Amino acid sequence: MSSEYKKNICIRPFNESDIPEMLNLVDQVVSLEDLTKSACIQFASELTDTTHEGIRFVAIADGIVVGTMGCALGPIPSKQALWADWLIVDSDYRRDGIASLLYSKIESYAFERGKRYLCLDIGNIDKERAAYKFHLSNGFQVVGQLPDYWGDCEHLNIMAKFLPSRK
Ligand SMILES: CC(C)(COP(=O)(O)OP(=O)(O)OC[C@H]1O[C@@H](n2cnc3c(N)ncnc32)[C@H](O)[C@@H]1OP(=O)(O)O)[C@@H](O)C(=O)NCCC(=O)NCCS
Repeated sequence: MSSEYKKNICIRPFNESDIPEMLNLVDQVVSLEDLTKSACIQFASELTDTTHEGIRFVAIADGIVVGTMGCALGPIPSKQALWADWLIVDSDYRRDGIASLLYSKIESYAFERGKRYLCLDIGNIDKERAAYKFHLSNGFQVVGQLPDYWGDCEHLNIMAKFLPSRK
C-alpha cells in the first residue's frame, strides 16, 4: 500500500470490470456462507436491469478497488427510503475515511432523489463492532432488532439515518 494513496482516492460508480475485485472484498466479510455467489449475481443484475433504482460505488486507490458500497430499494421498498448494502473496505485501507467517502456519495444520491431515510441491516452488532461503531459515528441509530432472525446468534439489526429534507 502506498502512503500517498490518501491524496488519490477516486469514488465512482462501478462497472463490469470492477466485479472480480469487488468480490475479493466480499470475500473479506466473515461469514459461514460463500457470500461471493449472491454478490456476483446481484452486482451483475444491477448493471443489466434498466429499471434498477439505486447505485453502487467503488473506491479506487493505488489503481485497485479498495472499497465498495451500494444502495437500492431493498427488502421493504418505499419511495421514501433506500437501503445500503455491501459496504466493505479492504482490511489494508481501513480507518482512513474510505467508508466515510463512500457514504457521503450514497447520501448525496439519496438526498438528490428526495429520500428521507437510509437504512441497512447491520447484522449482529455484538460481532460486527467496526460496522456498528462506524454507523453510529455516521448518524445511524438502531431502529429495530430481531434476535436469531437469520439463525442462532445471527440477529437482524436494522439501522436508519434520517436525511435532511430538500428545500
Ligand atoms: C466498517 C468498515 C466499512 C469501516 O470502513 P473504514 O474505511 O475503516 O471507516 P472510516 O475510516 O470511514 O471510519 C469512520 C469512523 O467510523 C468509526 N470506526 C470505523 N471503524 C471502526 C472500528 N474498527 N472501531 C471503532 N470505530 C470505528 C470511527 O469513528 C471512524 O473515525 P476515526 O477513524 O476518525 O476514529 C470496515 O471496517 C469494513 O469493511 N469492515 C468489514 C465489512 C463490514 O463489516 N461492513 C459493514 C457491513 S454493514
